[in-house]
Amino acid sequence: MNDILKKKLRQLNTLVELSSLINSTLDTMEIKERAICAATHLLSAEAGSLILVDQDTEELFFEVAFGERGEELKEIRLKKGEGIAGWVLETGEPLIIDNVQTDHRFSKSADEKSTFVTRNMVCVPLKTKDRVIGVLQVINKKEDSFDEEDRDALVALANHVAISIDNASLYQELKEAFYCTAMALAEAIEKRDPYTGGHTKRVMDYSITIGKAMGLSKRELEYLELAAILHDVGKIGVKDDILLKEGKLTPEELAEMVRHTKYGAEILNHFRHLKDVAVGVKGHHERFDGTGYPDKLCGEEIPLIARIIAVADSFDAMTTDRPYRKAIDSKRAFEELTTHMGTQFDKKVVETFIGI
Ligand SMILES: [Fe+2]
Repeated sequence: MNDILKKKLRQLNTLVELSSLINSTLDTMEIKERAICAATHLLSAEAGSLILVDQDTEELFFEVAFGERGEELKEIRLKKGEGIAGWVLETGEPLIIDNVQTDHRFSKSADEKSTFVTRNMVCVPLKTKDRVIGVLQVINKKEDSFDEEDRDALVALANHVAISIDNASLYQELKEAFYCTAMALAEAIEKRDPYTGGHTKRVMDYSITIGKAMGLSKRELEYLELAAILHDVGKIGVKDDILLKEGKLTPEELAEMVRHTKYGAEILNHFRHLKDVAVGVKGHHERFDGTGYPDKLCGEEIPLIARIIAVADSFDAMTTDRPYRKAIDSKRAFEELTTHMGTQFDKKVVETFIGI
């Protein structure tokens, strides 16, 4: 097998491996970072960068830069059409440049900023179905200069990267739409009871702060956030005369009121992928000593996100005015939480909250 064929085969293998690595995540930033590492590795180069278009100003900016002093490049913004990146973006054509310093399209701002000397470069467009979203550029071949095979390999990689970024953005939009729906639903329930205005947002903020301090994973934090937003969604099934009653509830009314945890879980169980959120919603009135509701779960049988929401929910209830009593200050609310550690609340959660 001749050298060119061998090189092509090696690049093809690397390309397949790197493309599946890029495709294995739906996190847009992770895709971009992996893309730059993959591009520089694929072409045996010293550095690389991913330049995107700001949709509002049409300026180009360095989204991810890999190599020496890559961070400083992020401050640079190029005008529409400026620089080699601007040319590739406007024409949609890939480009190999053997001597960048003498090319009339070259904008020196990146080199000046990073004190990096660009010798040669391959720059290719990132094309999605209907537009060019940016460019991928690879700088300084470690040995020799870039050739047509390098350019073609980078074009192939860029096609994968563009599709991955597009998919991840769609997924992100879908997630945001769901999140907004959840917020709207929570607000609709809050609107029935004017005294609870802003309660959901505060419970969410306290819960996330505790969750982060307790070292929850990214996914667990997402579940916690949704469960905190939707913790009282089941109140939609509780009649107004019980929900808004100012005096003490009768045993029958109380029995109806406590059902909001079950109703909430039932509503969320329609979403198969939200099982962990549903158990968090269902368990937010369980007590650590097993005397809570609806299932009288005890200790760590209660899902952690429910134990966190229980503390956040109670703290907010104590520190805001309600029709039947006045708010107490944070210091007293913390004392209350401490008093009920191990009985009503999880000690670790309360200690973390107070520690923050
Ligand atoms: Fe509740």
